[in-house]
Amino acid sequence: MSENPLRVGLVEERIPEPCTVVIFGASGDLTKRKLVPALYSLARERLVPPGLTVLGFARRPIGDDGFRAAMREGVEKFARRRPVAGDEALWASFAQGIFYHQGTFDDPESYRALAARLAEIDAARGVPGNRVFYLSTPPGDFPVILRNLGAAGLVVRGGAGTRPFTRIIVEKPFGTDLESARVLNRQVLEVADERQIYRIDHYLGKETVQNLMAFRFANAIFEPLWNNRFVDHVQITGAEAIGIEGRGDYFESAGILRDMVQNHLMQIVSLTAMETPVTMGANDLRDEKVKVVKALRVMDDAALERDVVRGQYTAGSVGGKALGGYRNEPKVAPDSKTETYVALKFWIDSWRWAGVPFYLRSAKAMPKKVTEVALVFKEAPLRLFGAAAAAVGSRANVLAIRIQPDEGISLNFGSKLPGPTTAIHPVNMEFRYGTSFGTEPPEAYERLLLDCMLGDASLFTRGDEVEASWTWISKIHQRWRAAGTDVARYEAGTWGPAEAEALLLRDGRSWRRP
Ligand code: BG6
Repeated sequence: MSENPLRVGLVEERIPEPCTVVIFGASGDLTKRKLVPALYSLARERLVPPGLTVLGFARRPIGDDGFRAAMREGVEKFARRRPVAGDEALWASFAQGIFYHQGTFDDPESYRALAARLAEIDAARGVPGNRVFYLSTPPGDFPVILRNLGAAGLVVRGGAGTRPFTRIIVEKPFGTDLESARVLNRQVLEVADERQIYRIDHYLGKETVQNLMAFRFANAIFEPLWNNRFVDHVQITGAEAIGIEGRGDYFESAGILRDMVQNHLMQIVSLTAMETPVTMGANDLRDEKVKVVKALRVMDDAALERDVVRGQYTAGSVGGKALGGYRNEPKVAPDSKTETYVALKFWIDSWRWAGVPFYLRSAKAMPKKVTEVALVFKEAPLRLFGAAAAAVGSRANVLAIRIQPDEGISLNFGSKLPGPTTAIHPVNMEFRYGTSFGTEPPEAYERLLLDCMLGDASLFTRGDEVEASWTWISKIHQRWRAAGTDVARYEAGTWGPAEAEALLLRDGRSWRRP
């Protein structure tokens, strides 16, 4: 029996075949915080078969029991349905399927031993050889793990219908520029087929990101407006209130453009701008997404100079709490030019979007966390309400899709102010997930792990898609490197540098204040 009211009446629910999820980098944070808690929540909702098996692969000699104890702690702290104490029987049966294999990524012997261990576990737990290899290590380890998996005969080539199946999930970042992404794609394809590769982007596991497609393609009333005849411009915001939280080492070489834009926000751009796919199947859907990325107008030097703003936060206060400046973070160079803020104006050269500018910003140390897409519509063709309408604010309709938090969708329009006046006042029509569905949405990793076990790659990034987005993003990095110019500065807890305001003001527009 389902415990989730959202699942009542769900006709397309499918349960994957028993399989073993092998996690490389099992002692890392992600395993404990996200992966195992997600698998546990799926088990709790009976969305995975009882034979589901998890095998952690890492260097430390902690044994099955040590790993189980660490995972229990993770589940208790981080699972969406934190429950262990209330449901010991479920935990006991889930924990029986957790194993640990001590090994080193570059030691072929570790993989031969892994193969033997997997065969043993398969026999004991009735798993018919199906495997998901989850690469949750620093990206530098991906190639050696892939090579060794291949050499140990652990990868059976073939797509969703192949049995037993082998699928490989690759964590982000998938490359740091076009060249490294190409090399990694080649390395992956040396051991497996594209159909077996699941490049993860956790934003695609978010309900609200998936709902962009449902909103557009399951309703007839919005799509006719979703184009350059009615849309004046599009604003996409991926703002976070946190700083870099001690990840100086990583962030210095990444910057917000790699950390958030190339992956997460590009997914949102694609889903917002794509054409209707032929079907929602993995290839049809991803074909349409790739077309958007390929249609991004490559910026020439003048555009890069004019339409890209990068910034870095200085000390300030966010939500009443002091936050030190980026350059004062450990492992950050005192003269670092790494961007913690980026704002871009860009164009998608397609029939649908010709002439519609897209403005995108992403940053750390903003006044609050907010991820949203806003379509700002053109004004009514004739102003019948004159000065009184202008006096009360915006005359443009705005459709805002709030990805997180306060997940929902709002439509802003003008309404006559009550009383003997022709004044128009902006008002909102609101949909909120919490109110309409009354339950918390599943964690992104739950959906993505389940989809991979089911052999559905729709919510994963295809190789050509990753390369297309790096083609566009790498141009910006090249330009920054060549120009050697400094970043603009903004105080933590503000909405970014003045240059970013100017980017829109120049066009007679302004950023939304969510
Ligand atoms: C990660 C980035 O991929 O996404 C982090 O590395 C960022 O820097 C995070 O904070 C944001 O994810 P979410 O789901 O909290 O919006």
